Amino acid sequence: MALSKRVFTAKNNVMAICEDSTALAKIVIDRCRKLASLTERPGTITRTFLSAPMRQCHEEISRWLEPLGATVKIDAAGNLRALYPAREPDAPRLLIGSHLDTVPDGGAFDGALGVAIGVALIEALRGERLPFAVEIVGFSEEEGVRFGVPFIGSRALIGTLDEALVECKDANGVSVRAAIDGFGLNASEIPAAKLEGDIVGYLEFHIEQGPVLEKLGLPLASVEAIAGQSRLEITFRGSTNHAGTTPMHLRRDALAGAAEWIGVVEREGRATPGLVATVGAINATPGATNVIAGEARVSLDVRHRDDAVRARGAASLVREAEQIASRRDLRVDHKTHLSQSATPMDGFLVEQIDEAIRKTGSRPHRMTSGAGHDAMILAQQVPAAMIFLRTPGGISHSPEESILQQDVAKALETGAHVLGQLASRTTQRRVERA
Ligand code: HGY
Ligand code: MN
Ligand code: MN
Repeated sequence: MALSKRVFTAKNNVMAICEDSTALAKIVIDRCRKLASLTERPGTITRTFLSAPMRQCHEEISRWLEPLGATVKIDAAGNLRALYPAREPDAPRLLIGSHLDTVPDGGAFDGALGVAIGVALIEALRGERLPFAVEIVGFSEEEGVRFGVPFIGSRALIGTLDEALVECKDANGVSVRAAIDGFGLNASEIPAAKLEGDIVGYLEFHIEQGPVLEKLGLPLASVEAIAGQSRLEITFRGSTNHAGTTPMHLRRDALAGAAEWIGVVEREGRATPGLVATVGAINATPGATNVIAGEARVSLDVRHRDDAVRARGAASLVREAEQIASRRDLRVDHKTHLSQSATPMDGFLVEQIDEAIRKTGSRPHRMTSGAGHDAMILAQQVPAAMIFLRTPGGISHSPEESILQQDVAKALETGAHVLGQLASRTTQRRVERA
């Protein structure tokens, strides 16, 4: 077939998507809601690392993909990996994906939307093969809920899912390794999950999870960088004692010490431009009304687009905890579960996304992501970029999370344009190399 004919007929397919992008968007949203029903806690959207509903999630997505000629497997880190072949066997691969786990009582679109849009883009090709294969990836764990450490799935793809992480234990003392083996996978095969071969790049469609696009009145944005994040656990220890008989001045109240420190966390977050500092979880022991808590375990999440500011913020909050503890005759220690650097996205892919957004008739907009994403892990090994969709009300990590069908339609059109642009470029490069 003449070369011109072999070049991906972007125009026809994009027009096809543009004609029925609204219909396809409804399918995407319905599918996200279907995945949301696969939950550990009925009445909420809660799906953590390799829980039983995750298996149902894999089965549901396989039902979407297998009729399209994609082969689906689950790798040893529990990631869903589906390959839609290229025209030629030795072609490079483009990865499109996001995470399939959720926060407890989360929303229907955080993560799942990126997988559902990837599947829809393959559907929209209507059997057309591209000069590159498309691998849909549904990451097994990005939120860090079960083990307190995020990005287990995506780290396997870049080969950094190390022994220390695999031995991490959940609240029931189950390790990542045992969870993997218990799911019917084989943790010793984790190295085989690592990305090999020629990768064009990684694209992640994701809700913004904040108020920016809604304020700007824009449906989409391209992410130019992802803020760095630190996740720590601070433990205050005092003396458990009787709430009724222990005078106030004789107490060593760990929970009161933690409470004072939580106020300091909010004050420092407000005082440092661009910094966010959050205590999301606290666990007091023994946790009874009539007992002074002998121990209070507190989480800390600190983020900033500048790693030096983030590191200073986290270090200052640890010092504040130590000062409060010494004033109250408490002991305190801290553990850093994650220190993830701020990550720029790939300049070429960001330009492709901007061009594609422009083609849909929208104004391109670039922004930094305050939320962490698997793209920041993949970016350590392959060109990575993200397309944000507007989040109504800026609400996320909540059952109130929502999406606009018209924005999903725009995202599909943008994705089709990006595929077309990358396809022409890949073909061009093959011609130049031929
Ligand atoms: O917490 C985050 O940044 C993301 O939602 N995992
Ligand atoms: Mn997410
Ligand atoms: Mn999230």
